[in-house]
Amino acid sequence: MTIDSEDDVIALKTVGAIVANTLQHMASKIEPGITTKELDNLGRAYLESNGARSAPEITYNYPGATCISINECVAHGIPNDTIIRPGDMVNIDVSAELNGYFGDTGASFLVPPNLPEQVAVCMAAKKARNRAIIGLRPGLPLNTIGKSIEKTAHKFGMHIVTNLGSHGVGRALHEEPGFIPSYYDKCDRRVINDGLVITIEPFLSTGADIVTDGNDKWSLMTPKGVYTAQYEHTVIITKKGPIITTIPTIH
Ligand code: CO
Ligand code: CO
Repeated sequence: MTIDSEDDVIALKTVGAIVANTLQHMASKIEPGITTKELDNLGRAYLESNGARSAPEITYNYPGATCISINECVAHGIPNDTIIRPGDMVNIDVSAELNGYFGDTGASFLVPPNLPEQVAVCMAAKKARNRAIIGLRPGLPLNTIGKSIEKTAHKFGMHIVTNLGSHGVGRALHEEPGFIPSYYDKCDRRVINDGLVITIEPFLSTGADIVTDGNDKWSLMTPKGVYTAQYEHTVIITKKGPIITTIPTIH
């Protein structure tokens, strides 16, 4: 969506804080022995107590309130009886709707003890997201985002997952502009308009360039032995600069 009032900004920040707080809350409960279903139930309860509805559930009939992806499953992992173990990488993606507005956020978490590659890919992916957000302005080409992410990925020697991208959001979970790549596409002529609402969510990897379908109809996988991380914010791009809506208000 493109915002056209301060009310839009407030509504996006309200649902943005809810998804960010849900993510924080769930992250604080990650420990060896907990199942992804138990974690998802905590997320669902948190969303519901704030009056919000799971976006993947209402949009795609997704079988869970949040997406919880472990190790080589890097996105759209279905909450189930999988037990979180020491050394795991856990990605949680929380998106929700409140009063017709949507927020979308995600992050990868490490369950100690971890390998240096796991730590490195998390650091690089978070930096790639944050650096891609800084300096976003209306009038810039949309491929500025991919260019920035690519630069950070290369700096840290990481691969870019090319078939997952950022996207428009706001009045729906996924809307125009569709697929915003995490690499520089010089043929992409799209331009950022004033008030555009999008996610920024690079997936960087120690070895994977694409994700493939898993055994269920949701999970997106990378090969065993490589590590992949994602960090996501929802951002409103204004003349005064980017406004991140998905900032947690709890710690
Ligand atoms: Co997301
Ligand atoms: Co997203």
